[in-house]
Amino acid sequence: MMAGSDGAAVAGGLAPHVPVLGRPAIDLLNVRDNGIYIDGTFGAGGYTRAILAAANCTVIGIDRDQRAVALGADLVEQANGRLTLTEDRFSNLAAIAREAGYEAVDGVVLDLGVSSMQLDAAGRGFSFRLDGPLDMRMSSVGASAADVVNTASERDLANIVFILGEERHSRAVARAIVKARGAEPVRTTRALADIVASAVRSRPGDIHPATRTFQALRIYVNDELAEIVAALQAAERVLKPHGRLVVVSFHSLEDRIVKSFLARRGEARAGSRHAPEIEREAPTFRALTKRPIVADEDEIARNPRARSAKLRAAEREPAPARNDDASDLLPRLPALADVLKGH
Ligand SMILES: C[S@@+](CC[C@H](N)C(=O)[O-])C[C@H]1O[C@@H](n2cnc3c(N)ncnc32)[C@H](O)[C@@H]1O
Repeated sequence: MMAGSDGAAVAGGLAPHVPVLGRPAIDLLNVRDNGIYIDGTFGAGGYTRAILAAANCTVIGIDRDQRAVALGADLVEQANGRLTLTEDRFSNLAAIAREAGYEAVDGVVLDLGVSSMQLDAAGRGFSFRLDGPLDMRMSSVGASAADVVNTASERDLANIVFILGEERHSRAVARAIVKARGAEPVRTTRALADIVASAVRSRPGDIHPATRTFQALRIYVNDELAEIVAALQAAERVLKPHGRLVVVSFHSLEDRIVKSFLARRGEARAGSRHAPEIEREAPTFRALTKRPIVADEDEIARNPRARSAKLRAAEREPAPARNDDASDLLPRLPALADVLKGH
């Protein structure tokens, strides 16, 4: 996320999203005249603005949030044909580029997670600090967090909260949810935050006890980790040789996927057991950041959300994209459709 130089223009009444690590993200994207760049997480348009300002280039903006896309309409108009904006998931970025008329692009940037505009809108149900419907969907389709909380089995709830929230007290959280929903469905963020707080003891100075459970449900409802894996694979297919991939993540589950994917793609892969050793596949990416770039103290002081941000970047090598199933990068969890069947 980056503090847009003029982010206030698109805030739609809510506090504007302050982009994080914007300067290094745009520098590493290596924006050039006539280049085509995909901003897969348009949000409040902070990154897109910076890309458009960096050179006479074209941006394909994507966001799965209909509101973010609607608020970006002014920027599309100001960009005079240099920006297209599509409401979609970034896992579809290669197809979206093709539809926009581009078989290959010069850069892909992803600034993962939720925007402040989403977090600060009580009605979206992302925040345990604001009371609202227990929704958490970035787009308005599909199951909500309330659907999961009110139908998943205790075991599935515990697994989701443990794996995606890294919550040590996941079993106690799941037990408390199942007990509470036996009396009445859990419909609001406040109700869920209170239930979790009753199950997870916290000391002064700790993060809010509901933080991890809310993170887990948000990631699960939006299938965020599978989206990242699919987007990395799509970026590999759509980037030109020497094209740049830049990803900013906000927690260890996201960063681990990006790091592992780039490590794998940075190594030559042995041929299959049926192919001779000489058919080793060449690396498809060269890492530009040996260690992730993090925000400096100034940025963290200005924007506390920058504290956990990690930026990784890589350059596409000319080798053909690999065609493997990278689902082993994902934690093992039951599918949403199965979880919604309950017991
Ligand atoms: C952290 S914000 C991006 C902020 C943006 N860089 C800026 O400067 O304003 C993340 C945005 O990505 C969107 N998003 C998250 N996952 C997505 C996905 N799988 N596909 C498309 N958009 C996604 C969210 O809806 C949100 O608007």
